[in-house]
Amino acid sequence: MVISGTTISGGADAADEAAQRLRLGQVVAVPTETVYGLAADATNANAVASIFAIKGRPQNNPLITHVLSIGDARRLTGAWPESAEILAAAFWPGPLTMVLSSAGQVAAAVSAGLPTIGVRVPSHPMMRAILAKSELPLAAPSANQSGHVSPTTPRHVLADLNGCIDLIVDGGPCAIGIESTVAGFHGEQPVIFRPGIITAEDIDQALRRAGVNLSPTPIFVAAESNTLPSPGMLSRHYAPDRPTYLFLRSAMHQLVNLFTSTSRSERMGVISFGSLPDRLLNAEVITLPADLYHATGGLYSAMRQLDRPEISAIFIELPGGDQLSAAGIGADTEPKDHHITRLSGMARVLADRLSRAALPWPKVRP
Ligand code: TXA
Ligand code: MG
Repeated sequence: MVISGTTISGGADAADEAAQRLRLGQVVAVPTETVYGLAADATNANAVASIFAIKGRPQNNPLITHVLSIGDARRLTGAWPESAEILAAAFWPGPLTMVLSSAGQVAAAVSAGLPTIGVRVPSHPMMRAILAKSELPLAAPSANQSGHVSPTTPRHVLADLNGCIDLIVDGGPCAIGIESTVAGFHGEQPVIFRPGIITAEDIDQALRRAGVNLSPTPIFVAAESNTLPSPGMLSRHYAPDRPTYLFLRSAMHQLVNLFTSTSRSERMGVISFGSLPDRLLNAEVITLPADLYHATGGLYSAMRQLDRPEISAIFIELPGGDQLSAAGIGADTEPKDHHITRLSGMARVLADRLSRAALPWPKVRP
């Protein structure tokens, strides 16, 4: 259905209007602390079907259900391991999604045929107001066209979904700026399906503080096929439209050569974490904070800002170069999978996201 005017509005009235529309089975874009979501009543099969249609989302990719409290989450789930209880107490409300067995309370399409449900208690006050006013569990994927970069401002949502929805609730720019950590459980053992600002190390520490000693530290699941435990983890995802490549800071001189040898009419986009040692001609450079916790808020905005027709390609620094240098790695221009598996903490998280946005370096120059 084409809707001619998509409105962006904020404040308490917008939360009221959103709740009303959601109760009528409509789809509304809403702010969360991570990224903007495209929300609908998780118990209404038609409303959930509209989310998939609007995003162009594959039917086999399940949606996260958002609720107000741990109690609400428990009502939607079956078995609840002790480690889930500990992680809920430690990180909710906040950017953690837990995949648990489903109690069958939501529309089947939310779980995309899986026996599990992904649940999250968000912390954004506007999202919490909408949850409270609507009194609904809200299914919400990121509010972008499927495969595209997640939106962190109402304008980003508009750029992807103008004319497809009536209302975007304005809750300001998202403080975190990357999607929630998605964790499942093998018995009591957490398994990370999608890394996020709550890192494997944070999960490990929370469990240890509560006296649960599981080893090894939460496992990362490689995301390469359609038979994944979390089908959303396709290897190419979160991507700009422009060809996007990763580079290592330690190979900066090679990048400089590449830029100075491109034709004048070509303009490249570059995103770095901390300022770069060399000036790049023919490039529009966006410098994000070197502290990676602070860099997440601006990363997707930067990717969208550079994703314009007059930019021929986007180069993004692989975060965590210092970790690689300390391990004696870093002579190649192009980061490889073994570089990423060496990383830990937030560098690992961002490298995981960026590796899904990026292409292998071309044999011929871009
Ligand atoms: O921060 C976020 O998580 C945002 C905001 C809006 O909450 N939402 C978001 O949703 O990023 P989406 O649909 O873009 O990503 C949801 C991820 C996908 O990778 C999906 O496969 C996984 O969560 N997921 C959801 N339910 C699952 C389930 N039952 N089993 C395994 N993975 C699940
Ligand atoms: Mg998404």
